[in-house]
Amino acid sequence: MVTPSTKIKKQESSINYYAGFSHTFVEHAIKSSNINEKTALILDPWNGSGMTTSVAYDLGYKSIGIDINEATLIYSYARLADYSVLEESLKYVSTWKDIGIKSVSPFDFLWFTKESTQKLSVIRNKILALRKPIIRNFLSYIAIKAFRKQLIDYFSSNPTWIKRPKNDDDLSKFNFEEWIEECRSSINHFYEQNCSKRVSRSVLPLLRTGSSLALPIRSGSIDCIITSPPYCTRIDYAVMTLPELVWLGYDNNKFNVLRRNLIGTPTVRILYNSFKFSSRIKNLLHRIKSHNSKASASYYYKTFHDYFYNMEKSFDEIDRVLKSKGALHIVLQDSMFKDIDVNLSKIFSESLENRGFTILDESRFMAAGFNYIKGNANINEVVFKCQKML
Ligand SMILES: C[S@@+](CC[C@H](N)C(=O)[O-])C[C@H]1O[C@@H](n2cnc3c(N)ncnc32)[C@H](O)[C@@H]1O
Repeated sequence: MVTPSTKIKKQESSINYYAGFSHTFVEHAIKSSNINEKTALILDPWNGSGMTTSVAYDLGYKSIGIDINEATLIYSYARLADYSVLEESLKYVSTWKDIGIKSVSPFDFLWFTKESTQKLSVIRNKILALRKPIIRNFLSYIAIKAFRKQLIDYFSSNPTWIKRPKNDDDLSKFNFEEWIEECRSSINHFYEQNCSKRVSRSVLPLLRTGSSLALPIRSGSIDCIITSPPYCTRIDYAVMTLPELVWLGYDNNKFNVLRRNLIGTPTVRILYNSFKFSSRIKNLLHRIKSHNSKASASYYYKTFHDYFYNMEKSFDEIDRVLKSKGALHIVLQDSMFKDIDVNLSKIFSESLENRGFTILDESRFMAAGFNYIKGNANINEVVFKCQKML
């Protein structure tokens, strides 16, 4: 049986993204969708690290990947790297040792002293000025992966959380030589793990920053959607990708805007009180609001309300862009809020059926790797294979 997460093989795991699904799972979903390799268009509206678009590419399908977080482009392009990208990247890396630092205004890498990151600032500017998106993003991926190795002291037991230094005394000294060595070995390692068997193709997937609430895609143009939405567990994808966002030059304001716009974010927004939810969602929201624990009626109610509002709007968009008879493979996770079941699979299967989708197949698994979320040790992962009937 093909599960979304438990079959992530060793050679697929060099790009790690929290709540990502496996190559095997996407391959199985594509092959079971009965779509034409030459003409079909595959979409992931919550593309994350780009597993859907990279498998579609390897199998020769056209695809589009959308994610609201610009940092994910670094991952989703890196997944597409072939031998020629690695070769070109290694050439760049070989020039970095002799980089000069004259007239550079040092970039603020947040965790490190400015004096220790002068050369890194020059290299960052050079990488971000590269014209080819695949080289620019692959080199950014390698650079940040090596950079993350020096952030160990700022990680916590929650794999999606990275601490910020409180003041200048907490800043670390960046080790430039160690970083270059790590970049080089990471590229060689990447070849063995990701692209030794890759057949290069001329057309890359279309990878874009955008929101699932307003997909930049024509109505009725998609044949198959393979996706896993943000879950209702208040995972902070913005903090998780803070090193990538810092690299891209996000200041606090830009970071906070992104954080507020992510679905499932722990930050609170305005409520759309007039929105007409299904009775199942209304009932769940009511139970959360009337729960006797601290902040249930305020903060938690608002975050759940906001989550369901955004997901319903996104399902409208999924419905709009998918062709009639198009396939939707969606991975969901049930969870708990205190002692209340947050049964996303029931709630969203109803949302899809209300929009004219038929659930052709439903598989349930125990999700791996989520044990750190308090009270959610037994998360149930559900995969729906649906068809749009109208
Ligand atoms: C569960 S992850 C997807 C993981 C992906 N399947 C993979 O294999 O890497 C959900 C993604 O939804 C993205 N997201 C959150 N809100 C969004 C929105 N409004 N529009 C588009 N993407 C959004 C997050 O940035 C995150 O990358």
